[in-house]
Amino acid sequence: MINQIDHLGIAVKDLETAVAYYENGLGLRCEHREEVPSQMVRTAFFDVGGVHLELLEPTSPESPIAKFLEKNGEGIHHIAFATDQVEDQLAHAAANGIRLIHEQPFLGAGNKMVAFLHPKSTHGVLTEFCAPAAPTTQD
Ligand code: CO
Repeated sequence: MINQIDHLGIAVKDLETAVAYYENGLGLRCEHREEVPSQMVRTAFFDVGGVHLELLEPTSPESPIAKFLEKNGEGIHHIAFATDQVEDQLAHAAANGIRLIHEQPFLGAGNKMVAFLHPKSTHGVLTEFCAPAAPTTQD
């Protein structure tokens, strides 16, 4: 089940100048920064009444965000829906003929398990499902 919009992903060329815009231009406060090696991005998060903005700057030309910027320039990159179980949501989408980018969730920013649907199957909107990662017993 989808519970709410978790965040909007926004591709930016330079995280620092983009953060400065959201902080100074809009008066929002950056609550969290994180590098996500699996996606080759640096991220910065803003809480806007429970829905977050996730700014994404590529750390490598191989990053999906670098490719997006090349093709489209800066702008909205994806919408992320908070769900209880990413696996269940993927299975439901696949059963309905929707193309998946990831068959299995992987660890994304904010200690969340994430996976994406292909924009060719989603009317042009790159779509992410996310859910809190299960706490590990080691720590
Ligand atoms: Co995201």
